[in-house]
Amino acid sequence: MKSKIEELQKQLGDIKIETVEQLEVFRQEYLSKKGKIQALFADFKNVPKEEKPEVGQLVNVLKNNAQNLYNDLKVNMGNSSSKEEKKLDLTRPVEFSHIGARHPISMVRKEIIDIFNRIGFVISEGPEVEDDFHIFTALNFPKEHPARDMQDTFFIEKDPDVALRTHTSSVQARVMESQKPPIRTISPGRVFRNEAISARAHCIFHQVEGLYVDKNVSFADLKQTLLYFAKEMFGEETKIRLRPSYFPFTEPSAEVDVSCNICGGKGCNVCKYTGWLEILGCGMVDPNVLTNCGIDSDEYTGFAFGMGVERIAMLKYQVKDLRYFFENDKRFLDQFTGAY
Ligand code: PHE
Repeated sequence: MKSKIEELQKQLGDIKIETVEQLEVFRQEYLSKKGKIQALFADFKNVPKEEKPEVGQLVNVLKNNAQNLYNDLKVNMGNSSSKEEKKLDLTRPVEFSHIGARHPISMVRKEIIDIFNRIGFVISEGPEVEDDFHIFTALNFPKEHPARDMQDTFFIEKDPDVALRTHTSSVQARVMESQKPPIRTISPGRVFRNEAISARAHCIFHQVEGLYVDKNVSFADLKQTLLYFAKEMFGEETKIRLRPSYFPFTEPSAEVDVSCNICGGKGCNVCKYTGWLEILGCGMVDPNVLTNCGIDSDEYTGFAFGMGVERIAMLKYQVKDLRYFFENDKRFLDQFTGAY
């Protein structure tokens, strides 16, 4: 019996198994109920009593070795390349791979920029972390003036104030400081306001603001520029209307509505049955602002406007909740793939 066990141990050491079929043959030969190891257990009753403990142990060791060998080979074959090769079917259609696409906000921002580029507005950029002068003081927000509360601010340092810019008008202040008119520029960028997040507001959003300073720039120029923008963005039939408003840096100031592009102005639930949708703020640059930035306000006049990219995107694509733009759920984003 002992010699039989040794013989089988030796066989286990020498055995070569390379395929799943060979492994199955091995299982039947050694490990099945009719296999060689089970036969040893059947013979066990014939072993003299005094040898039983020793022989019993040897048979058990043999059985464990065989079982472990089988288990290891099975796992390896599961991962083995020979099996992979078998599964490889070169006639199968290629799996679609998802490639990245532009975010809807990037697409709309680009569209706004392109529209103004075509009539000679160039891009200017500035810092997101700004000083008080460029966000507020230069733009005619007096210190402690309640108009500063129109844009709840994230302060980074107090006195002298350093804050996250609440609008990209700060970039325009920098442009006016460093360039001579004629100035025709747009400033796209991220802005930050300490506001509760809701379907209509977020503490981070994107703006494109525009500025035109030259001799004899008039309110009519502003109106015509914005009409051109509205038609390019929302379609040739689009109309605009201006409502009086207030901004510290423009005088007079206006809020601009476009005719609802869903119902064509007849009234629907998107425009709340008014036929109009608000898209931006604008006005003639206040002479104080020109002076603060080193431009002679007797010689030059200018207009400015500012819009939220998310708002334009919501109107253009009838997105009801601004938060979708920030959640980046692929099911939402995929709807814009190929939109441009
Ligand atoms: N800066 C204003 C805002 O962020 C928008 C604006 C720009 C209004 C220029 C008028 C003129 O709300």
